[in-house]
Amino acid sequence: MSKSRAGLTVLVLAAGQGKRLRSKTIKLLHPVAGRPMVAHVLESAHSLRPRRLVTVVGFQAERVREAVAEYPTDFVVQKQQRGTGHAVLQAAAKLRGDERGTLLILNGDLPTLRSATLRRFIARHRRSGAVLSVMTAEVDDPAGYGRVVRDARGTVQRVVEHSDASAAEKRIREINCGIYCAQPGPLLRMLRRLTPDNAQGEYYITDAVRGLLDRGEKVAAMLHSDSEEILGVNTRQELAHAARVLYGRKAEELQSKGVTLLDAERTWVDPRAEIGRDTVLYPNVIIEGPCRLGEDCVVGPGCRLTDSEVGRGVQIFDHSVVLQSRIGHRVQVGPFARLRPGAVLEDGSKVGNFVELKKTRLGSGSKANHLAYLGDATIGPACNIGAGTITCNYDGASKFPTVMGRGVFIGSDAQLVAPVKLGDGAYVGAGATITQDVPAGALALSRVDQKNIEGWVARRAKRHKREASKKS
Ligand code: UD1
Ligand code: CA
Repeated sequence: MSKSRAGLTVLVLAAGQGKRLRSKTIKLLHPVAGRPMVAHVLESAHSLRPRRLVTVVGFQAERVREAVAEYPTDFVVQKQQRGTGHAVLQAAAKLRGDERGTLLILNGDLPTLRSATLRRFIARHRRSGAVLSVMTAEVDDPAGYGRVVRDARGTVQRVVEHSDASAAEKRIREINCGIYCAQPGPLLRMLRRLTPDNAQGEYYITDAVRGLLDRGEKVAAMLHSDSEEILGVNTRQELAHAARVLYGRKAEELQSKGVTLLDAERTWVDPRAEIGRDTVLYPNVIIEGPCRLGEDCVVGPGCRLTDSEVGRGVQIFDHSVVLQSRIGHRVQVGPFARLRPGAVLEDGSKVGNFVELKKTRLGSGSKANHLAYLGDATIGPACNIGAGTITCNYDGASKFPTVMGRGVFIGSDAQLVAPVKLGDGAYVGAGATITQDVPAGALALSRVDQKNIEGWVARRAKRHKREASKKS
């Protein structure tokens, strides 16, 4: 661990409700580009490798804890949401012994924040010698934000919240981003002196700016030029905007690595996904979760892939759904295929239109080209699953497996009533209902013999004619 980072503590404020979303779920749990907003903030915080990471929770605390469970953070509870200054004080005990380090404080509603920006901010704060540094940005529409009030010489004087601002102050376009760096000791001492005499009756962290300046301490306001990155999400409109920013960023990253997005604005790739070069994504592809796709794949329009792995040279045709599945190399899927969790397609296999797989392994080179349901099945290599094949894996109470060896041929419209095993090279005739195991190399038939009744059509026509003439 480098020396400069040794004393870094990051505090994430995640106890508030976020009323402006008008949701039953608190703001920070709303997903942006596939993960709860607060998880993005923890991700940037964690990537700074701080000595300590602390998250203040309050509203729906259990769900917030779950949402960030993958990060090594301590939690403190703010029982009543009495403002951002009050929230920071709840973590005071956790900061004890660290008074001389650096404390980075982040609002929890900054999903588009980059960790590189934070690194620069921390470095500038340390160089400045300020007790408190506030990151600021100029925005076209500052409504709702705290405004940064400077004097004629440009020196920061205070931050005034929107609801407390005068008409003139409301015209200020430089806003407080909700990102702070501080020397913990003096900041906490200042926060303990705050009073809630403002429009919202809250303890504002932003009041520490004025308070510290009044005591002759140094406060720095550092203007950040990319306002896209620091927009706090407060409304559903901003929620949608933040998602566009994250997906847009991911699209650029992929393009710079040699992936083709035929319409980057209508393709959503999870920031955690990895895609190999020369892979082509058609419009309206959605890739969710930490998916991995190899090189030279094509993903057709309207496909959705979630938490899945895909090899090289795979073609996934229009409107296919792939959930928690593993696809090998040179596989073809779709159009209109549905791979449910636990589908495994080995190299060179094919799953065609209107085929559904669940917890099923399809061996290499095997094909299920049309209209089939394959559930809880293990299918060997080089098998051919005819159109309309159904594994009857469920008896209303329990699920049962179907197992096929190598080179099995299932004729069209067969039902395989599980549990059932078919040996290597077994054949099943079209329309069969298979209720017993089929040995290797055997042909299984289960159908009523066909009989042809000669001249029946003409005799029926005559009879109808006679009956019609009697009636009239
Ligand atoms: C805050 C700032 C404002 C800034 C804006 C940037 C204050 C007083 N104001 O306003 O200057 O321009 O962020 O987006 O800080 N929270 C708690 N406990 C509480 C209250 C809030 O943990 O008691 C958390 C929230 O969950 C949220 C963050 O603090 O993650 C900020 O709260 P929010 O209500 O969004 O603050 P704003 O009114 O937007
Ligand atoms: Ca906010």
